[in-house]
Amino acid sequence: MLGYRLSRFLGQYDADMAADILKNWCLERLYRLPCAFHIAVMAIRKIARMGHPILRKVADPVADPTAPDVRLLVEDMIETMIDADGAGLAAPQVYESKRIVIFQAPPEAALNPDGEEGYDETAPLTVLINPEISIETQDHENGWEGCLSVPGLRGLVPRPLKLSYSGYDLSGQRIARQARGFHARVVLHECDHLDGILYPQRMDDLSKLVFDSEFKHLVEAQQQAADGSAQ
Ligand code: NI
Repeated sequence: MLGYRLSRFLGQYDADMAADILKNWCLERLYRLPCAFHIAVMAIRKIARMGHPILRKVADPVADPTAPDVRLLVEDMIETMIDADGAGLAAPQVYESKRIVIFQAPPEAALNPDGEEGYDETAPLTVLINPEISIETQDHENGWEGCLSVPGLRGLVPRPLKLSYSGYDLSGQRIARQARGFHARVVLHECDHLDGILYPQRMDDLSKLVFDSEFKHLVEAQQQAADGSAQ
């Protein structure tokens, strides 16, 4: 899962209240989706953590994206992702070595929503089965990532700026999109899980691997640097 912390908008609430508000907010969003799935018996699954062998495996292709067991797994993944306040989740993270990812790139996460034409920085909640990615630029940008399989940490990760990807949804329809920014980042992060790769393996500067609780020091240092250069 790529940690996208909606809770930063809720800093004025205590942790329990914030968790309740977040879950209700996310469920409302999910139920409002025009293509909402039948949501009756979803379950929150345990999430594998770094060090478990399932996270190192190359996941298997899905023979039939429309199979009922695939739908049940995806429903559980959605419930698990919402409960964890995440932007994405890959099937191996819930101990299923299958090439399935779910993700969303909400407008709140877009830094440059009016960016290059044809490359979308936002995406609705998407189920992508047997995904394929084509990198379309040599340009990379750094961005902070977290992962529920690497709890409590975040790291600065260089990722290609834009790409195209394709795959299949639960009805067997092909999805093909062009993405940039956060949208491209979340797709790359989740699809890396299908090849046994966690985000620290993509980092080029491990001094930028920090605990969530210490992240404020980096923000303060950046602010001080910005203040200094402005004077
Ligand atoms: Ni992850």
